[in-house]
Amino acid sequence: MDHLTVVDHPLVQHKLTIMRQKDVSTGEFRRLLREISQLLAYEVTRELPMTTKRIDTPMQEMDAPVLAGRKLALVSILRAGNGLLDGMLELIPSARVGFVGLYRDEETLEPVQYYFKVPSELDERLVIAVDPMLATGNSSVAAIDLLKEAGAKDIRFLCLLAAPEGVARMKEAHPDVPIVTAALDERLNEKGYILPGLGDAGDRMFGTK
Ligand code: URA
Repeated sequence: MDHLTVVDHPLVQHKLTIMRQKDVSTGEFRRLLREISQLLAYEVTRELPMTTKRIDTPMQEMDAPVLAGRKLALVSILRAGNGLLDGMLELIPSARVGFVGLYRDEETLEPVQYYFKVPSELDERLVIAVDPMLATGNSSVAAIDLLKEAGAKDIRFLCLLAAPEGVARMKEAHPDVPIVTAALDERLNEKGYILPGLGDAGDRMFGTK
């Protein structure tokens, strides 16, 4: 896969435009995020390894295509990652699920881990890390560091919006991790928010402030 894939499918772009608008309700935002996550999941799993299995149709036997290898692992970067996770699990119900919790230290501004729970045999699975906003890239890079320490070798990163700064940071730290996103926005503001963006994804999907 390329290092950055922007999914320019018309349905993704249309839904994203609705989500960006500030007067969209929490319920509508969540529903659209769930729908987009399924379209993005389709793209991020496009090149999964396949094998065949002998099956009987009502007509005859055939060698039919099935996914090869271990069940893939979806890893949500808390808390906003959960907004992408739910829709993806509808599409890939047998996926294993992990969670990475990071907060930003107010003094050092570095990400600090507060929770980490991932499926076993991570080294044998495709791991898809999900977080709607790739902004500075600091927490994404830290989350991928932790996944690699836990053994993950084949990792993809799925987000809704990416900033050029975050993409560059990820490329520098983890050039082996392809990024799939619905849009590459213009830049970050001085507080690390994506412009034009959609605001705080966690607040918008959970109705907090
Ligand atoms: N996280 C968000 O939720 N929004 C941004 O714009 C940047 C980081």
